[in-house]
Amino acid sequence: MRKQIVAGNWKMNNDYVASEQLVSKLLEQYTESETEVIIAPPFTSLFCSSNLLKSSRINVAAQNMHYAENGAYTGEISSGMLKSIGVDTVILGHSERRAYFNETDALLAKKVDAALKNNMRIIFCFGEELLDRKSGNEEVIVEGQIKNALFHLPASAWTNIVLAYEPVWAIGTGETASPEQAQHMHAFIRKTIENKYSSDLSADVSILYGGSVKPANAKEIFSKEDVDGGLIGGAALDVTQFTAIINAF
Ligand code: PGA
Repeated sequence: MRKQIVAGNWKMNNDYVASEQLVSKLLEQYTESETEVIIAPPFTSLFCSSNLLKSSRINVAAQNMHYAENGAYTGEISSGMLKSIGVDTVILGHSERRAYFNETDALLAKKVDAALKNNMRIIFCFGEELLDRKSGNEEVIVEGQIKNALFHLPASAWTNIVLAYEPVWAIGTGETASPEQAQHMHAFIRKTIENKYSSDLSADVSILYGGSVKPANAKEIFSKEDVDGGLIGGAALDVTQFTAIINAF
C-alpha cells in the first residue's frame, strides 16, 4: 500500500541550536496522523534531530550520501555512517545536487545501489527544467531520469523507493505546477513504472510533488489521485507552515 508522506528538506539551513529549536517546536505542534512526516536537516543536525524525535513518529532523512562505504573521499558521508546514528532514509537526486554538484544519472544509480545495499529507504528526486517544459519535453526528461537511475533495480527493491517529482522551475521560485500539471505528470510516472514492472508495483509507489508547496496550495495538490504527498523546501523551515501542510491531507 502506498503511503502519504510529507517530507521537509531543510537544505543548508539551521545550525545545531536552531535545529534543536525547530524540532522541539515541531514536536509541540505535530499531531499524529496517517501521514508519515519526515524532516531532512543538514548533516550536522541529523544526530540531535534523530535523538529528539526518537520516541515520536516523525522520521529523519539525510539530504545526500556518497556511494562508497568508506575511504578517501574527503568531505563525504556514507550510508553506514547515517545508519549508525539512526538515519535510514536519504534524499537522492535533488535538482540542486544535480545542478551545483554535477550529479548525473549514472552517479545517482551508484548511490541508489549503495543505499539499498545498506537497507536504506530512498526519496529519489527528479524533474524537468523550464526549457524542457516550454519545448514539451518534460515527459521524455522525467522518463529518462527515472530509467537511468532506477530501472536496473529488481522489483523487490521498490519497497524502499519513494519518488519525488520536482519540476526545477517550481523549486524556490514561488511558482507551483498546477494541481492538474502535477497529476498529469504523476500519472505518467506511475504508467512508466507499470510498463517496466507491474501495475501492482506502480500502484504501491508513493510519488511526492515538490516545488513551492505552501499551506495555501497543499490541499489541492494533495487531493489529486496520483499525488501521495510533498517534498517541502522553504515552508518546512517554518513550523506553523509545515504543520499546516501536513494537516492539508
Ligand atoms: P521549495 O523546495 O518548497 O522551497 O520550492 C522544494 C525542494 O527543493 O524540495
